[in-house]
Amino acid sequence: MVQIHGYVYVLALLLMIPAAAYAQDGSVQEKGIAVFIDKRCYTCHTVKAESAQVEAAKEAFAKSKGVELKESEEDKDESKGGDLSNVGADRDAKWLTDFIKNPKDYFKDTPDCKKLAKKKERKKFKGTDAEFQDLLAWLETLKYGNKQEAGFESCLKE
Ligand code: HEC
Repeated sequence: MVQIHGYVYVLALLLMIPAAAYAQDGSVQEKGIAVFIDKRCYTCHTVKAESAQVEAAKEAFAKSKGVELKESEEDKDESKGGDLSNVGADRDAKWLTDFIKNPKDYFKDTPDCKKLAKKKERKKFKGTDAEFQDLLAWLETLKYGNKQEAGFESCLKE
């Protein structure tokens, strides 16, 4: 019995090696951008500082799904969430985690802010923890200096 267990362990370990190697495949940037595309963050947000990589990932994603990526009308213009090129410097990991998963808690109660909150809330992150970690790890590296346009800050609760 002990023998068999031993074999099972060895087998399990062997099976885990390729899985671990696969998980480490791809840089923080590649993995983060993949989630950013897959979860449609790009429909409202740009990351201008890495736009070439984001565009390339969008094309690869569309190709792999056999679809054309289009932005829906409702996601255009005023519902845009702005550029995230400096969000890793502007926010810490805890803020990003709470905000992305539960945005409505962060907005003030005025009509304009509630409108913004609603847009954000509808598109809050829905995915696995692993996907979120990949996304967060990448967002934290975005420190390019071009801060989010003003306006949004005034809608955040103190
Ligand atoms: C329907 C449009 C929409 C989608 C889709 C969307 N967001 Fe947002 N996001 C917003 C809006 C609106 C704001 C408020 C900021 C503003 O108006 O500039 C915001 C704010 C943010 C902020 C705070 C920015 C800052 O400067 O502090 C982060 C971070 C963020 N979004 C990440 C994401 C991520 C990650 C995804 C994908 C899971 C996502 N968003 C999907 C609309 C969207």
